[in-house]
Amino acid sequence: MATMYTETVQTVRHWTDRLFSFTATRNPGFRFISGQFTMIGLTVNGKPLLRAYSICSAHHEDHLEFFSIKVPDGPLTSHLQKIQPGDQLIVGAKPTGTLIQQNLKPGKTLYLLSTGTGLAPFVSIVKDPETYELYDHIVLAHGCREIAELGYGEQIVNNLLNDEFFGEIAREKLLYYPTVTREPFRNNGRLTALFEQGKLEADLGLAPLNKETDRVMLCGSPQMLDDLQNLLISRGFTEGSHHTRGEFVIEKAFVEK
Ligand code: A2P
Repeated sequence: MATMYTETVQTVRHWTDRLFSFTATRNPGFRFISGQFTMIGLTVNGKPLLRAYSICSAHHEDHLEFFSIKVPDGPLTSHLQKIQPGDQLIVGAKPTGTLIQQNLKPGKTLYLLSTGTGLAPFVSIVKDPETYELYDHIVLAHGCREIAELGYGEQIVNNLLNDEFFGEIAREKLLYYPTVTREPFRNNGRLTALFEQGKLEADLGLAPLNKETDRVMLCGSPQMLDDLQNLLISRGFTEGSHHTRGEFVIEKAFVEK
């Protein structure tokens, strides 16, 4: 079995000077579960240079999609941010990760909490019809510094809400909560503060976060994960894994130094 596939970049969209998304062909043999990540990269100086990236596309789509930060001196992203349609992309054939439904106990509301590029795994999850069979509500919360950084998530949500087949169930169950911290917007503040105040749930017309009915997936910076994990633990939530199902699961967002 192949350990790496060579795919072809199809589209590239730059959202801000720090963020871009891109699509590539998908080998029909490449299988993954919504929320997983895989290694992707480029050949740099004759050698493969790979990093872990969450897969944004749904498992039923025939292409792959990724959402990336751009770091000027980043070993991979300094090159990756220059990719063009037609370029080759290396994709590792062994996806993995903890942000999967099998690691969570059944629940009624699924909270997908992300900052920055931590949104990526949740894009795949909100596009998966099974998510809507498992939960009454799916909250997609995305915290960014500036409004422009929300662009990719906004487009994904708009496409889902207006989708010919998927729109009806998405309009019934998907609750999008973008928030920014460094300029005025309809929602302001860090996710941690919004939960401490009970504001996020109240704004969406939901009951305060509780472990009996709510399940949480976290993806963001190490500091964001620490703070939100502590908040969840203080409310009695336990972390799920491949061995034991829990009320929340976490994964670090990809950030290249
Ligand atoms: P802030 O602007 O107050 O730092 P970054 O681009 O640095 O990864 O940040 C993305 C978003 O995550 C920003 O809105 C940032 O807010 C927020 N953030 C940073 N640290 C935390 C944390 N510990 N908990 C929740 N949100 C955080």
